[in-house]
Formats: sequence, C-alpha cells, structure tokens
Amino acid sequence: MELAIAVLPGDGIGPEISRQGIKVLESVAKRFNHEFSFRFGLIGASAIDATGSPFPDQTLRLCIESDAVLFSAVGDPKYDNNPSSPVRPEQGLLKMRKELDLYANIRPISTFDSLLERSPLKNNVIEGSDFVCVRELTGGMYFGEKGEGEEMAYDTNIYHKFEVERILDIAFNLARKRKNHLTVVDKANVLASSRLWRKVAKEMESSYPDVKTDYMFVDNAAMRIVQDPRFFDVMVTENTFGDILTDEASVITGSMGLLPSASLGSKTPLFEPIHGSWPEAAGKNIANPVAQILSAAMLLEHFGLLREGELVRKAVENSIENGVRTPDIALPGEKTYTTDEVGDWIACEILKIS
Ligand code: IPM
Ligand code: MN
Repeated sequence: MELAIAVLPGDGIGPEISRQGIKVLESVAKRFNHEFSFRFGLIGASAIDATGSPFPDQTLRLCIESDAVLFSAVGDPKYDNNPSSPVRPEQGLLKMRKELDLYANIRPISTFDSLLERSPLKNNVIEGSDFVCVRELTGGMYFGEKGEGEEMAYDTNIYHKFEVERILDIAFNLARKRKNHLTVVDKANVLASSRLWRKVAKEMESSYPDVKTDYMFVDNAAMRIVQDPRFFDVMVTENTFGDILTDEASVITGSMGLLPSASLGSKTPLFEPIHGSWPEAAGKNIANPVAQILSAAMLLEHFGLLREGELVRKAVENSIENGVRTPDIALPGEKTYTTDEVGDWIACEILKIS
C-alpha cells in the first residue's frame, strides 16, 4: 500500500517521539513491502516562532493532501503563564481539529500485564481493564462562544443535534465491534447540553437493540474509572469531559506515555498520543515513545493493515516485557532506556518477530 503521511512533530518532546513513530512505520513498510512517504509540517509554538501562526495554511494544505496525519504534541510554557498572549500553541491544535473536521477522538485504554505494578491503583482492580473512550472533539466549550473581560469571562458549552448524532453513531458501532456495551457519560442533571445528548442517545437506542446502553453522570464516571474500570466497554462523551476522563484513565495503564488515539472525521484522519508536550523533558531523550508508536499502529489499522498493526502492538509488548523501558515505566533499580533506544528496539523487533 502507498500512504502519504503528514508528520507534525510540534513542540517539547514532540520531535523526539515523532522520530520513533516514523522509524516504526519504516520498519513496517520494509517488512510488508509498503511505500510510506513522510512530509513534515509546522504546528504549535514552533510554528508561531517560524511563521507567527500556530497552524499555518501550508500545514493545513499538507494535511489535506495527505492520506493520514501523524501528530505528536503542542504546548510551550512561555505561553502557559501569559494569558495576555494573543496567540497560543494550543490554538493550532484546535484549529487543525476544526479545519480537518476531526470530530471523533477514539482513545483506547487497556493494561499491559507486565505494567500492572506501575499503576498506583490496586492490581486486582485494574487487571483486564479494556475500554475505549469516544471523545467528541470539535464541539462544546472548546469551540463555543467565549467572552473574556476583567470582571467576568465565559465559555459556551454548545452542541447541535447533528454533532451528537454523528458521534453517538460512531460509539454505537464501535460497541457492536466490541462487547456491545455503551455508556453515555453526561451531566444531564445540571446541563442543558447534556440533556440534549441524553435525549438524542435515547432516541438512537432503538436502532441499536443489540447494544446495552447505560447512562452515567460524569462525576460518577470519574469515580467508576478508578474504582471499577472493567465496568466499561465503550464510553462516549463530550469534548471537555472526554479530555479530563482520559487523563484520569491513563492512571490505569501506569503512564500517560502509553496511550494513543485516532481523530477521525470527514477529511484526513489524524493519529496522536493523548499526552502533551512535556516541555521539561524536551531534548533529554527520556520521553516514552509508546503512545506515539501505538498511534502509528492505529493509523495502520485504520487503513485495514491489521496484521501490521498487530505486529507493532506485539513488538511494543515485547519491549516492555523485556525491560526495554523509558524511566516513566521502568521498575525501581532497573536499567532505563532512552526514547531513541526504545524506538530502535521496537523497529528492530518488527523485522524479527515471526
Ligand atoms: C488533549 C490535550 C489538548 C486538549 C490540549 C493540548 C489543547 O490535552 O489532546 O487531550 O485539551 O484537547
Ligand atoms: Mn488532554
């Protein structure tokens, strides 16, 4: 298969982990005789420095012309504590999500047996956890009307019926491919936007009689994720709730550096780790590349390259089992590996596994 992949390394640890994603895809291409080409684009703080814009038109064009986007991370402390800055790196990511119409963010959460010890949660609670959060990605407070004054500020949590329907459709269908269990997470006891979500979901339920659908308030879901994560199969929720719940859920796996995601919509699909740019670690070669590498696996699977995706997953698993780990997941006293070394090991393993 030929795939033109736009690579957007972004900021902080972005460039380092991005390179590992490419290495792995090159290994896959070599082993399976695919032709993957990579073209690079600017986004985030590095794009602001170079062009003044966090998501330059040239990057948008590159994404539109490509088959897929492999994105890493944006964010730079020099903007975080400067609320008066008219332009911020995160705007680049949000603009990209909007322009590429990436309304469905698929975030799978599962444990690695060999990493159960790394989670601060009890083994017997998290063992066997395996669920997917379907996060709405182009609506809600992130994109609703905002006002910012000296004495007051507001964000509008607005959702249209069509936005709720299309994300629920994805979630119901995903549940069908898994254990036929969908949990709709909202705050319908307080928020009007949530009541719309719940109403639309109730209407759609009858079209998916084979899916067991339940409803949970977001505060309760936040508790359930750490108390009884095996309860969940597919959960679907709005943009802000999904952002918060998936950071929380990463605690189950033991590190933020392990969780990939796919952002899908009507245009070019994008694959991105759920973690941020971790500026303190930038350039130190210590960041975990696994979230990025598993995002590459999701990219492959999106194009039907299932054996390829499986092989990448297996190689990642083998690396962890063999102790080839960055500091965030290493056991106390164990040797740790650099970002590059982990990437090299996994890329090499992909060529070796029978
Ligand atoms: C994420 C990130 C982004 C978000 C930030 C960087 C804008 O936290 O992808 O989860 O809030 O969506
Ligand atoms: Mn987040």
